[in-house]
Amino acid sequence: MQDINVGLIGFGTVGSGLATVLHDQAERLQRKTGLNLRLVRVADLRTTRLPDFLSGTELGQDAGAIINDPEIQIVVELIGGIEPARTFILQAIEQGKHVVTANKALISQHGAEIFRAAAAKGVEVGFEASVGGGIPVIKALKEGLVANRIDALMGILNGTANYILTRMSEEGIPFDAVLAEAQAKGYAEADPTYDIEGIDTAHKLAILMSMAYGANVPFEAISVEGISHITPLDIHFAREFGYRIKLLAVSINHGDHVEARVHPTLVPEHHMLASINGAFNGVWFTGDEVGDVMLYGYGAGKLPTGSAVAADVVDIARNIHHRCVGRVPALSYLPQHLGEVRITPLEAIRCPYYFRFTTRDVPGVLSAISGILGENGISIESVVQKKRHEDNAVPIVMLTYEADEAAVTNALAAIDELSTTVAPTVKLRILSDGRA
Ligand code: HSE
Repeated sequence: MQDINVGLIGFGTVGSGLATVLHDQAERLQRKTGLNLRLVRVADLRTTRLPDFLSGTELGQDAGAIINDPEIQIVVELIGGIEPARTFILQAIEQGKHVVTANKALISQHGAEIFRAAAAKGVEVGFEASVGGGIPVIKALKEGLVANRIDALMGILNGTANYILTRMSEEGIPFDAVLAEAQAKGYAEADPTYDIEGIDTAHKLAILMSMAYGANVPFEAISVEGISHITPLDIHFAREFGYRIKLLAVSINHGDHVEARVHPTLVPEHHMLASINGAFNGVWFTGDEVGDVMLYGYGAGKLPTGSAVAADVVDIARNIHHRCVGRVPALSYLPQHLGEVRITPLEAIRCPYYFRFTTRDVPGVLSAISGILGENGISIESVVQKKRHEDNAVPIVMLTYEADEAAVTNALAAIDELSTTVAPTVKLRILSDGRA
C-alpha cells in the first residue's frame, strides 16, 4: 500500500481534530483509497506532547522542519491568521508540497497569490474547511454543482453569531449577556469581533463567490454589518411578523453585477434558513439547472472541521496516487478563465425592509413618517404601533414592500430629523421570495 506523508503545522482544536479523524478512520480510508495516510510530523509552538495514538509522529516547534522535509508530500496549515501562515504556505508550495488549509481569512485575502504560486509549481491547495466547518460546501459548489450558473448564494456561515441570535430569540436576553455566556462556555473567542461584526462571514462569502462566479472577489468589496446592535425587542417584533433574525451572507447574481453583503436579516419562519439554530451553519445555492440546494451541519468544532480537512488530504492523496494535478481548479474555473466581477453598490440593492421608529406619541406622527416614506417611493406592507413607554416614547414597527436602499437611506435620514423622533430608527433587511 502506498504511503502518503502528511505534515501538520498547528495542533490546536482543528489540528488535533484532523489527527483524530485520520487515526480513527485509518482502516476505512485505506479501504476507500488504497492508501496509507501517515501524519509524520507536527509543528506547534505550544504543544509539548502528542496524544499516545500519535506515537509514530514527530513533534517540534519548527514549521520549517515540515516544509523542508523531502518525505512530506502534503503540508496542512492550521494555525490561522495571515502571518506566518501565508509565508509557510508559500514556502511549502515553493518546496513542491501540496497544501491544505482551513484559513478563511488568508484564502479570502491572499488566495489569488497562493493559487497562482500553486499553479506555477503544479501543486494543489485544498481549503474545504475554510467555509462551513464540516459541511462539504466547497466540494459541492466546485464539483456537485459544476454544471450550473450560480444565480444566488446565501448562508448562515458563523456559528458563534448564530448561537448568540438563537439564544437571544429563545430566552429574550440581551446581546451582551449572551455573548458573555458564550465566552464563559468557550463557544465564542475571547476577541469575538470577527464573529459578531460579520467579518468572518464576509471572508467565507468572498471564498464562495470566487468559486461561484470564477473571479477573485476582494473581501473589501463586501458590505458588512454585524449583530451587536440587535436587541431582544427587534427579535420579538420580527417574530410577531413571522420572521427570525439571522446573520446572513447574501450574493445575488444579476449577470453584469453581483450583490455581496453580510447583515442581520429577517428570514421568513417557513424558510429553511430560519430553522438553522445554535452553532449550526447552512448554505443555500440557487443553480440555473439544479434549482435550490441547501447544505446544513456543524460550522465549526474539532471533529467536524477535522473531517473537512481530512477530505482535502484524501483528495490530494488520490491525485498523487493517480499522478494527476489540477484536475479540479482551485476556484472551480480554469485560471485563464477567471475574470473580474462587478459588485453591486449597497445603495443600489432592492429588498423589503423592517423599520422600528421610536417617536413621541403625538397626533400626526404616523402620517409624517408615512408621508416621507411615500415621497421616497417606499410602500408600507404592514405597520404596528406598540404600547406607549413611561417616557411617552412609542415604538412603531413597519414592514415595507421591496424598496431601493438609497431611497430608504434618504427617508430614514429625514425621519430621524423629525422633532417627534426620539431615537435613531432601526433598519433591517428582509429576505423575501428566497432573496434578501
Ligand atoms: N468562528 C467561526 C464560527 C469558526 O463561529 O463559526 C469557524 O470558522
